[in-house]
Amino acid sequence: MMNIQYEGTCQSRITFVYEDSDFPDIKQVFKGEFLSSFPQICNAGLTVYIGLGKKEELTPRKLMDAVSKGVREMKKYNQREAQVDLSPVMEKFGLQSVRCAVLGIKLGLYEYNPFRSNRREETGLYVLKGVEKTEKAEQALKKATNLADSVLYARELVNMPGNLLTPELMAENMAREAEKHGVQAEILDAKQAEALGMGAFLAVGNSSGNPPKLIVLRYLADPDSKQKTALVGKGVTVDTGGYCLKSSGSMLGIKGDMAGGAAVAGAVFALAANKVKTNVVAVIPACENRISSRSFVPGDVIRSMSAKMIEIRNTDCEGRLILSDAVTYAIRKEGATRVLDIATLTGAVVGALGFSTAGVLTNSDEWWDELSAAAKVSGEQYWRLPIFPEYEDLLKSTIADIKNLGEDYCGTITAGLFIKAFAEGLPWIHIDIAGTAWVDKPVFEHQVVGATGAGVTTLYDMLEGAGRRS
Ligand code: BES
Ligand code: MN
Ligand code: ZN
Repeated sequence: MMNIQYEGTCQSRITFVYEDSDFPDIKQVFKGEFLSSFPQICNAGLTVYIGLGKKEELTPRKLMDAVSKGVREMKKYNQREAQVDLSPVMEKFGLQSVRCAVLGIKLGLYEYNPFRSNRREETGLYVLKGVEKTEKAEQALKKATNLADSVLYARELVNMPGNLLTPELMAENMAREAEKHGVQAEILDAKQAEALGMGAFLAVGNSSGNPPKLIVLRYLADPDSKQKTALVGKGVTVDTGGYCLKSSGSMLGIKGDMAGGAAVAGAVFALAANKVKTNVVAVIPACENRISSRSFVPGDVIRSMSAKMIEIRNTDCEGRLILSDAVTYAIRKEGATRVLDIATLTGAVVGALGFSTAGVLTNSDEWWDELSAAAKVSGEQYWRLPIFPEYEDLLKSTIADIKNLGEDYCGTITAGLFIKAFAEGLPWIHIDIAGTAWVDKPVFEHQVVGATGAGVTTLYDMLEGAGRRS
């Protein structure tokens, strides 16, 4: 068990220090540079000093990272109980400091090693100090804990090996989690998808002996509003590329191709756990992209649920296919009034933005502003790419309505614009997390090797109304 609470005392403590502050005792040896650390034995316990850098440059994300650094230093010295003194940051961030601390502790200490025979349950006790124990502070702690657990839920799914997380197992997992949170879950099978005409989803989904599932999670908690946001998340549990087979070198990450689906599920569970007043429907097309006699192949033309005919140019461009049917489903069957989709969609986004920043396309400036405001709170990084009309021309097919592959350039834009073609003119925003969902070398201190849980906090903050508040 890992406990984070306000009550109690621990012998060891984490003390945050701003750069150039008049901090006593250790000033000679410790300047407080961001993420620098200094351990000191005193009396019965250990004190670890963690640098925050310059006060005016401290952001919520940097604070979260500083906390991760602190608890990991403690762990390095075998200390799993520590006081975390937030008093230096309360003035700047108020109760947001509590959230940063909880996320910093939980995300920073997360490990994925369930198959190691010598694995050990993570334990710990972290006592937050310097926070006045009001009702609001209790709330902040509880909400942050729920949010952190949802990020870890997403990480857990993304880290899970493909043979242990088939579309069916992922559907069962999400339905189980939904029940815990009072979220309504509906799982559609291939037959039901077929009846709905979801030819694009099934072209991919039928390639595997592990049958596809369309996972629908409904959290409708704002009866006063007519707005319903669709969160559509790519749920490819294994992406071999199909007949346009990936090279062996680029196959290692293929189990993580459901990170968009994990992100929207995590966000919905966090919204439900924290009783946020909003209407959301998550739609997760879950399937594998494999080679079989039932696989689609380049040259095929398939009929999507929207009735648009799609020319297949590349079977490795499977994400946009399943997402386009999921978007049509969200609009026509669930009555979504705006559509967000999130996916590990293109390697090209890594070329453009690396591993720290997700790519965004949208037809709505307002929604971009909302996302940006949310990202300021969550600390995740997003960058908008253009959707000028000439890019759309790259998807024109001579024999069908649209083709599933653009040219050799601007692959992130053409992939996103393919999905936009199915948004029926509604406000639409697209997030490509192919770079940010997984890190072999963590970029930020709160990350560990493997899944990051990308998207969960920002989607949560966006729907919780981070933009409206500030
Ligand atoms: N799931 C991949 C994209 C991806 C690549 C995610 C690397 C994570 C890391 C997607 O289905 C895909 O295969 N995209 C291709 C498209 C290409 C064939 C135009 C890609 O980006 O290589
Ligand atoms: Mn692919
Ligand atoms: Zn894929």
